[in-house]
Amino acid sequence: MSDFESAPPAKAVPNGMPFPSFDLPLPDKPEIITANIQKLVELTSNPLSTDEWMAAIDFLTRTGQKCTPLRQETILLSDVLGVSALVDAINNPVIEGATESSVLGPFFTEDSADVDFGESIASEGKGDYMYVEGRILTTDGEPVPNAVIETWETDADGFYDTQYADRSHPDCRGRLRSDDDGRFGYRAVVPVAYPVPGDGPVGELLLLLGRHNMRPNHLHITVEAPGFHKLVTALYPEGCDYIVSDCVFGVKKSLVVSLKDVTDDEEARKLGFPRGGSFKLLQHNIVLLTEEQSAAIRARVDEERGVITADKY
Ligand SMILES: [Fe+2]
Repeated sequence: MSDFESAPPAKAVPNGMPFPSFDLPLPDKPEIITANIQKLVELTSNPLSTDEWMAAIDFLTRTGQKCTPLRQETILLSDVLGVSALVDAINNPVIEGATESSVLGPFFTEDSADVDFGESIASEGKGDYMYVEGRILTTDGEPVPNAVIETWETDADGFYDTQYADRSHPDCRGRLRSDDDGRFGYRAVVPVAYPVPGDGPVGELLLLLGRHNMRPNHLHITVEAPGFHKLVTALYPEGCDYIVSDCVFGVKKSLVVSLKDVTDDEEARKLGFPRGGSFKLLQHNIVLLTEEQSAAIRARVDEERGVITADKY
């Protein structure tokens, strides 16, 4: 490290840009995502010139060069441009009652540890206690047993484990399975709002656009079960200021959840929280579509939009 490079900050640092001066509707539909990003991009007073062609090439080159096995700057670029949310919304329409999807984001890893029912995905000291529980269900309310659930989140400092240079093992992430009744439960920490990485080309882009780089606090969850459409989603505890201006357009109304305060030392210890005291309780059922349901709704939505699929040429 040269004298000019400082050590990484102990807490994730926002880029200092203000909230947008106008309200953006939550991006529950593809059309809203596109309108929101257009409105934000129009904020710039820096029109495209010929010289900027080379700047764009340089930018894209540096974006690729910034990627490592644990740092995905290109997904981040797609995220802040609203492309990830748009592709997700187009490909994963749901019917009433099914859990809506959200962006995967750049912090998923394949190396999560398996976590038994009720165990913790976070090592001690990573943040305020949170217990997460619910059931994996079909749209008819039937349990989906043995579904594979992957879940990951920030620690209290606003970092994912992969953002620590000295990462030795996965933390604040885990893989678990629903039981015979579709139930799942695990200990975690309360995630916090965080800035997406600002030390790369995408961080520069957001500054040039005058956009803040914050995401509201959230818990990532993916669920896979044979015969069901894979769900990639996240839950957003209500009350965070950034819910209405998420820099990657991930929030949908149905994914905003409330955390219950539980101040019961005995209950906290019974659930396995070593320090006892109090904890937050996140209770949320996840409703999966079967592959057939997902394909049918996708075909219907495509037809409504006038999309010509390959088999119709
Ligand atoms: Fe995230």
